[in-house]
Amino acid sequence: MGPALDHGSLALIAYESGSSEVRQTVIAGNWKMHMSCAETRSFAASFRPLIANLPDDRQIVLAPPFTAIPTLCRHLEGAGVAIAAQNVHWEDQGAYTGMVSAPMLVEHGVSHAIVGHSEPRKYFSESDEQINLRARNAQRHGLIPILCVGESLDQREAQETERVIHRQIEQGLDGVDPLQLIVAYEPIWAIGTGKTCPAEEANRVCGLIRRWVGQEDLVVQYGGSVNPATIDGLMAQEQIDGVLVGGASLDPISFARIVNYQAPVPA
Ligand code: PGA
Repeated sequence: MGPALDHGSLALIAYESGSSEVRQTVIAGNWKMHMSCAETRSFAASFRPLIANLPDDRQIVLAPPFTAIPTLCRHLEGAGVAIAAQNVHWEDQGAYTGMVSAPMLVEHGVSHAIVGHSEPRKYFSESDEQINLRARNAQRHGLIPILCVGESLDQREAQETERVIHRQIEQGLDGVDPLQLIVAYEPIWAIGTGKTCPAEEANRVCGLIRRWVGQEDLVVQYGGSVNPATIDGLMAQEQIDGVLVGGASLDPISFARIVNYQAPVPA
């Protein structure tokens, strides 16, 4: 395990963060509570040919519901798509009805796990401390956590965006290896609303997140109503290394357009 973040150290990290030659692009789809196994098979059959000529500078990750993981793994085998879980428990096993642990996911070939998404934060009152335990245990088993952070509309209007996200980063990443990590900036007001955060503002916050984590190679994604019409503008931003896509990842044609985004021509 690489150097883990120390609680309280984030504010002390000061360096100019900019574009990195080595940062990977990671385009992730979060299916939420959608897609039966039959729908998953049909998605995979349509999607596979659409990513056959994907430039090799980008990685695709798909997070189906737990029940569709084996089907998606089987039907996208060899297609270069990594599979994520939508959440992961902080214990390996035990009396936690309804939960799924990291070793159970690894057994199925899962490589990433979303933690701290705003929906479980809201509907299941997930705290930053629990999210932190999830991320740590995911890493202990070799899973890459995709930590979601982001402010509500009220928090944005009260000028609390930076404070809220700094806290989510500081508490969520305590003891977490920043070299085996993805962070997704997902403003809550942009999720499922059709209101994409303006690309320049998403870029600004993604840059702040990278600076607070203090790891120049950290992949920072933007998420919130990403669609085929907004992807090229988002990916043209220097601090945005990928996206986390909800609704638009359910349709193979629209998700294929997103992963095949048009990279800006270098000046
Ligand atoms: P959306 O969801 O793309 O449907 O807004 C994003 C997310 O919740 O990760």
